[in-house]
Amino acid sequence: MRYRLAGLLSGLAFVALPGAFAQQAAPPPPAFAPANTTQEGARAMASTCAACHGTHGKAAPGAAVAGLAGRPAGETIQAMKDFREGKRPATLMHQIAKGFSEPEVAAMAEYFARQQ
Ligand code: HEC
Repeated sequence: MRYRLAGLLSGLAFVALPGAFAQQAAPPPPAFAPANTTQEGARAMASTCAACHGTHGKAAPGAAVAGLAGRPAGETIQAMKDFREGKRPATLMHQIAKGFSEPEVAAMAEYFARQQ
């Protein structure tokens, strides 16, 4: 009986202690990082669009998805807003558009507008 109790207690310590340490070590969940709207930040965010819209927004010849390079920033911003708000039909852009704040979209739109 004594052994069983000791075993139970050490088992509990095994389960409970890592949790206690983890709670001490883990910082509070981070707030969203501030938008990096520098040119480098915009370029990094825009690279997440490259798989579908082409490197630097330049669609490959014959690509099914439109390029974004050289598109006036206002058009890209409006399209992203319409996707986010469900006003523009989309297969996936309505979800992607929700992943970026307005300053982030604006920075990417300016970046794509600069690509010729
Ligand atoms: C996984 C593929 C994929 C990724 C990644 C992606 N897009 Fe798209 N994008 C599409 C498709 C497909 C459409 C056509 C609308 C739809 O079906 O959702 C589209 C349409 C658009 C349009 C409208 C184009 C037009 O012809 O007027 C804009 C603007 C746009 N995307 C911006 C972006 C931006 C900015 C990013 C990166 C943050 C991005 N997309 C990432 C697939 C993608």
